[in-house]
Amino acid sequence: MPSTVSQPVVTPLTRSAIFLVVTVKSGPEHEGAIRALCADLSGLLRAVGFRDLEGRLSCVMGFGSQMWDRLFGTPRPKELHAFREIKGRHHAVSTPGDILFHIRAQRMDLCFELATQIMARIGDAVASADEVHGFKYFDDRDLIGFVDGTENPVDEAALEATIIGEEDGAFAGGSYVIVQKYLHDLTGWNRLPVEAQEKIIGRSKLSDIEQDDALKAPYAHNVLTSIEENGETLEILRDNMPFGDAGKGEFGTYFIGYARSPRRIEQMLENMFVGRPPGNYDRLLDFSRAVTGSLFFVPSATFLDDVAP
Ligand code: HEM
Repeated sequence: MPSTVSQPVVTPLTRSAIFLVVTVKSGPEHEGAIRALCADLSGLLRAVGFRDLEGRLSCVMGFGSQMWDRLFGTPRPKELHAFREIKGRHHAVSTPGDILFHIRAQRMDLCFELATQIMARIGDAVASADEVHGFKYFDDRDLIGFVDGTENPVDEAALEATIIGEEDGAFAGGSYVIVQKYLHDLTGWNRLPVEAQEKIIGRSKLSDIEQDDALKAPYAHNVLTSIEENGETLEILRDNMPFGDAGKGEFGTYFIGYARSPRRIEQMLENMFVGRPPGNYDRLLDFSRAVTGSLFFVPSATFLDDVAP
């Protein structure tokens, strides 16, 4: 049996990214356009990516729960469902999204060209879109000034954290992804003394060194997002990107987390928004508001290549 190839979920971090979320109009002609794109995506990627191989262009295509049923029916990935909003001390909203394109490269022109080529194929089938252009900021920091991504698993550990195995054999090689667009109150955040910010993140701002466990606040971001099952740490892979609009005074972090089960990311969100225990919530959320939230299944590249138009 030929081996299954995953989409490029695990890939070295890049300097640029486009996060494109679209909803698809109803009608067989629109679903047909999406289906045709599935099989053509790898060809488009090769054509655009070949213009600068060192630019490391990649694209991950994910499907929301309803979209999966419309396009592919059964069997369906075991844990695919719509993003469930969380209402705790803060609100994790659930917003529409049928398809996610996570486009990454070292150069924004490569990302933009691929997004343009994708939209040339499916533009008429798509009803609305949220598009965020992310960039790397100084020293891999997010706009709140902290290095973001340090504790990500790498290599084998990253594959182990993200790629579905025997637990859902029909969809082995796939993954789940949750995205949330966060807007920061940077004025409020920058008014906080650096020590208070460091308590919230659980790391030193300048050196990025993790605080000693004994010194960490119970509500530190890295305490609340550390979760275990049967004594084992459950990891996810993040590739957050800063974005913004200086003219509008908009400063954000686009959160993107991949995992072999969405449960892991949902548990982290529960801890952040409701608190662990309830009330001990993530203080970062006092300064960062989630304005979108969607969950997608990422089938293997082999699956996408084989989609019949
Ligand atoms: C760690 C920022 C949202 C999960 C971190 C770190 C920063 C950060 C600065 C420390 C460095 C690192 O290890 O990457 C942010 C910002 C967010 C955000 C600015 C949005 C405003 C989230 C969300 C989740 C999450 C929504 C999960 C649902 C994690 C995890 C770690 C982490 C698992 C590593 C913890 C550890 O093992 O030390 N984040 N984050 N983050 N974040 Fe976030």
